[in-house]
Amino acid sequence: MKRIVIVGSQWGDEGKGKITDYLAQRAEVVVRYQGGNNAGHTVVFDGNKYSLHLLPSGIFNPKIKNVMANGMVIDPKGFVDEISKIETPYQIYISNRAHVVLPFHKKIDEVNELMKADQKIGTTHKGIGPTYTDKFARTGLRMAAFINPQLFKSYLENELPYKNKILSDAGFDTFDIDEVFETYQTYAKQIEKHVCDTSLLLNQWIEEDKKILFEGAQGIMLCVDHGTYPFVTSSSPTAASVPLNTGIAPWLLEGSVGVTKAYTTRVGEGVFPSEISGDLAHEIRERGHEYGTTTKRPRRIGWLDTVVLRHAKRVSGLSFLAVTLLDVLSGVKTLKIVTHYKLDGIIIDYVPADVHTYEKCIPVYETLPGWDEDITGVTSFDQLPEQAKNYLNRLSELVNVKIGMFSVGPDRVQTVEIEEIF
Ligand code: IMP
Repeated sequence: MKRIVIVGSQWGDEGKGKITDYLAQRAEVVVRYQGGNNAGHTVVFDGNKYSLHLLPSGIFNPKIKNVMANGMVIDPKGFVDEISKIETPYQIYISNRAHVVLPFHKKIDEVNELMKADQKIGTTHKGIGPTYTDKFARTGLRMAAFINPQLFKSYLENELPYKNKILSDAGFDTFDIDEVFETYQTYAKQIEKHVCDTSLLLNQWIEEDKKILFEGAQGIMLCVDHGTYPFVTSSSPTAASVPLNTGIAPWLLEGSVGVTKAYTTRVGEGVFPSEISGDLAHEIRERGHEYGTTTKRPRRIGWLDTVVLRHAKRVSGLSFLAVTLLDVLSGVKTLKIVTHYKLDGIIIDYVPADVHTYEKCIPVYETLPGWDEDITGVTSFDQLPEQAKNYLNRLSELVNVKIGMFSVGPDRVQTVEIEEIF
């Protein structure tokens, strides 16, 4: 496959950055297509660890063209901070149709959360929801207008009074038009050389038969359409959203890799049927370094849930699974996998659309024996202990998708390919 999308099949943080980084070694183009710096992609190679939030995971390879497509919401300050830390030469292209996150979007994100009392979503406070709200309310700012001083100024003059009203009503400080303009002009000056029509470029590169990786952020259970609404993000991480969010025809995408942890995690609020607590959750959290890359919040831990993965397969399409953090399960005596849910005494195999019904679902588990061996040095499927092989095989069977690759540690070299995907 020459054009594939890497999607998160759970609630985000599945290790998409690692899988993208690994496959990107063969890519010519890497594209981020939704979300913003709410994402946190960790990439480890040559003994160094890097955290990416906005930048595509191909940024460390000077030969790769990195695209931030029209479906993204881009915080100019976040971008400038992040790109200034990249020490190697890089290629980056930013869509002139991507929307811009401004400082008041971040404040309004906080206000919205405060107003929700016990219904908080637990957002990253990066202004993602308010920026997408503006986009769809047709009151947002595209990159093309942001880098034009007249258009940017007039946008602030029109919009900022409304935003200030929301902020002052909530008892927050307001923003001064000139101050925002001056500060953000300095970012615009640093960004403008990267801004272009990325749809034109992508279509040209597709005609040239280049290998392209589309890199999803968050996970399908956080999709604004197919996730656990309203405890979701404000974009769609599915494969289906790639064409719209990048400006290519749907049939040009050739397949998708669903990244899943060997267990499940979730940050922020919301239903999580297979959640576990106590010593085992603590152990997995510590061993898997399960703390948010963006917010440092401890992640909630749960067993692998194949109802969630089948849902991901239905709404996004999964050509292969990539299973990450398999090594973290070493030493767990008995492993549990959710096969179905029980809702009001009836076995179901779908994710209910409303979270209240979803909260009533009781997971139905299957148990499998675990393994004790340290598997962090394994370089092929055959080297895995029998129990680990059985665990992967059973997962593949339950989701009815081939396991394309798995990983046994954070480093790029701790990734094992079973199938040639890309
Ligand atoms: P927002 O995207 O900041 O609006 O946050 C909405 C929800 O998505 C919250 O529950 C966040 O914790 C969650 N979320 C957003 N980005 C990520 C991510 O990259 N990984 C995991 N959860 C995320």
